[in-house]
Amino acid sequence: MTEKLTQTREQIQSALEAAKDLQSLEALRVSVLGKNGEITTLLKSLGELPPEERREAGQAANELRDWATNAITTAKADINKKQQASALATESIDVTLPGRRRKIGRLHPINTVYTQMEDLFTSLGFDILEGPHVETVYHNFDALNSPHNHPSRDEADTFYFNDSLLLRTHTSPMQVRAMESQQPPIRVVIPGMTYRRDEIDATHTPAFHQMEGLVIDKGITFGDLKGMLELIVKHIFGPDSQIRLRPSHFPFTEPSAEVDITCYVCAGSPTGCRVCKSSGWVELWGCGMVHPNVLRMSGIDPEVYSGYAFGLGVDRITSALYGIATPRLYFENDMQFLGQF
Ligand code: DAH
Repeated sequence: MTEKLTQTREQIQSALEAAKDLQSLEALRVSVLGKNGEITTLLKSLGELPPEERREAGQAANELRDWATNAITTAKADINKKQQASALATESIDVTLPGRRRKIGRLHPINTVYTQMEDLFTSLGFDILEGPHVETVYHNFDALNSPHNHPSRDEADTFYFNDSLLLRTHTSPMQVRAMESQQPPIRVVIPGMTYRRDEIDATHTPAFHQMEGLVIDKGITFGDLKGMLELIVKHIFGPDSQIRLRPSHFPFTEPSAEVDITCYVCAGSPTGCRVCKSSGWVELWGCGMVHPNVLRMSGIDPEVYSGYAFGLGVDRITSALYGIATPRLYFENDMQFLGQF
């Protein structure tokens, strides 16, 4: 028996030395101490020994079991420790690094202005419509009474896809779509992006934002339009803000006017600036009474109904509000710029 125990111990010892990972140690434990393990079987066989040998052999066998249990546990702990140490060396965390702040998004200044204006118009009972950015030449020009030789139709000014489709150059085509699909009274505003082949400079970008307004009803006058323009300007720029109306020409309105506000960069100082080209005034939008031809083409009787329309330049309103001289910044996703708002 003693010999058998010594042999077993030596076997375990060399197996322990050979075991390089937790799996082989666990396999060793099962083969030695498991239900049918070597030591377990030895312990079970003690009963077959003559009584005088049993005590001593029992003690030795128990000692062997305790030794084996201990040795395997220790070997497992050693491997665990080694694995932890190598993990720490390769996956170490530098706790002195500063944390990563989560960035909270915010509204783009253009969207803030759109929201502000939409709030005003919905409170006045206007509907908000959206229109296609890829528009038909018919809606963008023809139905707006735009003559075939009108400069805005020029390929140098407009992104055409083909003879009948283009990137809308203004939100005005949605006036036509609104009149085609609704009967007066109509009170709608249309926010959205518009496109022209402009070189980027102090006041131009090839994409820009407009908000179109259209009101059609019986007895609408230029006075209603002027009242509305003043309401918009006071809502956005405060009760003291002033507008200047300049006679102008648009094919789809008659009479037509342009709405200016005091230059938001130089406020009309004598030294002047490139934003207002030293005039002291910045053009914010166009407006006018809807041309009878436009009403007629959209199926509305100009003898019964009249209306006004306006197209707000949202980039310029935003620039005026925040004192931003370069509208290019609205399109550049520059976090340093956008983070200020
Ligand atoms: N569509 C014109 C533009 O983009 C602006 C405009 C002028 C819109 C007069 C209107 C209007 O609704 O009545 O330059």
